[in-house]
Amino acid sequence: MASPLPAAALERQPFYDKISKANMTPLWEVLHGLITATPNTPCLPYLWKWETAWPWLLEAGQLITAKEAERRVLVLENPGLRGRTRITHSLYAGLQIIMPGEVAPSHRHSQSALRFVMQGHGAYTAVDGEKVTMSVGDFVITPSWTFHDHGNPSDEPMVWLDALDVPLVELLDAQFMEKDAADSQTTSEAANTNLARFGNTMKPVEYKPSSRTSPLFWYPYERTRDALETMKAHSDMHVCWGHKLQYTNPVTGDWAMPTIGTFMQLLPAGFKGAAYRSTDSMVYVCVEGTGRCHIGGQTLEFGPRDVFICPSWESYRLESDGDAVLFSYSDRPVQQALDLWRESIG
Ligand SMILES: [Fe+2]
Repeated sequence: MASPLPAAALERQPFYDKISKANMTPLWEVLHGLITATPNTPCLPYLWKWETAWPWLLEAGQLITAKEAERRVLVLENPGLRGRTRITHSLYAGLQIIMPGEVAPSHRHSQSALRFVMQGHGAYTAVDGEKVTMSVGDFVITPSWTFHDHGNPSDEPMVWLDALDVPLVELLDAQFMEKDAADSQTTSEAANTNLARFGNTMKPVEYKPSSRTSPLFWYPYERTRDALETMKAHSDMHVCWGHKLQYTNPVTGDWAMPTIGTFMQLLPAGFKGAAYRSTDSMVYVCVEGTGRCHIGGQTLEFGPRDVFICPSWESYRLESDGDAVLFSYSDRPVQQALDLWRESIG
C-alpha cells in the first residue's frame, strides 16, 4: 500500500494538477534526479557469452532470410535499458549473421555504423561502391549517409558486431534512411583500393575531405595486431589498460568516426590493471585470450568473441591470463567535443 502523502505535498498537489493541464511541471519536484553529483546511468555492467549467442544466431539464420530481415541481427540490449534497443544510453550493438550465399540489401542512413568482425571470413561490405572482404578482428566503417550492403559468397556463416549511434541520432531527431534501387551496389573489382589510398599514412594529393568520418573505412586486424605486438616488445604499458591504440582518421589525426570512438588494446599475460573509470560507457569485444573485468562487485570472465559493457563512471579493473586483445568503443568523441568527458585513474 502506498504511504500517505505528507501534508505539504497534499497542499501542493492541486497546484501541480492545475499547471499540468497546460503541460507545465514544478522543477523542484524533479531537480535532484536531473542534476546529480555524479553520473547516474541506468546502464548496467553485463557480459554476453559467445557460446550462448552462437547457437541462437544460427537458429535466427534458419528463422528468417537476410533479405526479409533486411539486417538479421540479435540486438545486445543492456539489462538496465531493456526494450530500448541499445547497449549503452547513447550507442547500439547487435550481432549480425550472414549465411553463405546471402545478401543484406543496400541502404543508407544518417546513423554512422561500424562492423567488427567476430567469426568467419570471405564476406564483404560494400561502401559507396567500394568493396572490402572482411576477416576476424577487422574494423570497418560505414559513414553516415553512405550506401552499404553486405554479402557472403563464402561457404560458412559470418558474424560481426554492428555498432551504431542510433540512440544519439534519435535524441537529436536527425534520422533519415533510404533504400537503394538495387540490393547490391555496383562495385569496383579492384581489391584494397581504399587501403592503398589512405591506409599508409599517406593520401592522394587531390583528396579533399567531405565529412568528419575517416576516408579509410577498413582497418585490417593484421596491421593492428602487429602494432600492438611491437608496442608490447618495446614500449612501457599503462597501469590501467596495458597497450592501447585509438583508431584515427589518417587525414586529420582525429577520431575515425565523429560519434563513436574506437580502440584496440593488448593486455600482456598476467596483467592486473589498476582501477579506471570514465564518463563514456565502454563496450568491449574480446578478440583473443581470456581474462576478467572486476566491476561493481561482479567479475565478468571474458574469452574470445564475448562482449561486455562498463557503464559510465563505474570503476573497473581488467586482468588477463595469457596475452589478451580487446576491441572497444564508446561515445567519447561526442563527450570530448562537448567538453563533458572525464576520467579517473586509480
Ligand atoms: Fe545499415
